[in-house]
Order: sequence, then structure tokens, then C-alpha cells
Amino acid sequence: MIISELLLLISLIFIVLLITSSIVYSTVKLGISPMPSSNKAYFSMMQLVDKTGSGTIVDLGSGWGNFVIRIAKRYPQRQVVGYELSFLPWLTSSCIKKILGLKNLTLHRKNFYLADFSKASVLICYLFPEAMEKISHKLQVEKSNVSFLISNNFALPSWQAYRTIRLNDFYKSPVYLYKISKAET
Ligand SMILES: C[S@@+](CC[C@H](N)C(=O)[O-])C[C@H]1O[C@@H](n2cnc3c(N)ncnc32)[C@H](O)[C@@H]1O
Repeated sequence: MIISELLLLISLIFIVLLITSSIVYSTVKLGISPMPSSNKAYFSMMQLVDKTGSGTIVDLGSGWGNFVIRIAKRYPQRQVVGYELSFLPWLTSSCIKKILGLKNLTLHRKNFYLADFSKASVLICYLFPEAMEKISHKLQVEKSNVSFLISNNFALPSWQAYRTIRLNDFYKSPVYLYKISKAET
């Protein structure tokens, strides 16, 4: 009895260590943790997505799926795509997608810098300044059909925000909406 309880405890510690190290490894490698957007940010982003027509919505770094799952449920007629490199967040969101039977949601375990944006209409970001710099460059040099970019907290360099919502939080955090019809270099 004591041995079986000890084995269970060791297995649990092993699993917790495995999960923690996997998340820490991805965070260090990618430069950002899979922290989801806050509820306030989500509702502001959703409010902006509401006015973007019917094209494909792409979350660059979909994390645990907090944004893409809610948005895929909200717009069953729109395609929603998530790119996520961190294994456990990607696995978790893929399982939730399966359980909920979200046929309009596609989750890729892939680097979004290498993604083809030719079918994307709206890009969603909750990233960090260097990533926004790279995305800005990608939008300027690659052919795409992206019409809008919505970013939680981080501005898109070289582009002028069409609308900025200030969240009702301690930092008055911004959520930006960019119109990406042509590059502004
Ligand atoms: C702060 S989370 C945002 C999660 C979600 N978009 C949200 O707003 O709730 C950023 C995510 O981007 C992922 N990420 C960072 N760089 C990436 C890359 N090059 N390709 C794919 N995913 C990436 C990270 O693993 C992390 O899960």
C-alpha cells in the first residue's frame, strides 16, 4: 500500500516536472509564455473582430486556445486558424477543439513566421515587440490578403493604428486595430 502510494506520488511529481519544463523550454525558446489574453482584452478584440467581415481569422500564437476557441464558437460561419509551437498548449487546445467539434477551427503546430497569409483576412496577436517587428516586415515583403491586424498590447511598427481601445485596467493597456490594405513604410 505504502509503495503504491509512493509510486503514485513519484509519477505525479514526474508529470508536473515534465509539464513545467516543457512550458519553460518553449517560453525561453520563443521569447513569450503561453499566457492568455485577459477577459477585458478578449472582449475588446472580439468587438474589433465583429467589424472585419467574414474572412479567415488567424491567431499568431494561439496558446491554450482561449481566444481561438471562443472566436470559433462565436463565428461558426468563419474559418479560424491558430499557429502554436509550444507542445502542451497546442495539444490542450487541439483536444478541446475535438471535444467541442469545432469544424471551422484549424490548429497548426507550426512557426507563424513561416505561415502563408494568402488566405488570412484578420491577424490576431498577443506577442512582444520583436515579434511585431518581424510580422510588420513579413506583411511588407510578402504577398497576402490580410485586411486587418488586431494586437493586444503591442503596436505594429511602421503602421498607423486605425483604432485603439484602452482597457479599463491598471495600465490602461491598448488593443490596436490596423487596416492592412497597403504597406506604410
Ligand atoms: C501570450 S500567448 C497568446 C495566446 C493567445 N493568442 C491569446 O491571446 O490568448 C503567445 C503565444 O505565442 C506562441 N508563439 C510565440 N512565437 C511563436 C511562433 N514563432 N510560432 C508559433 N507560436 C508562437 C507562444 O508559444 C505563446 O503560446
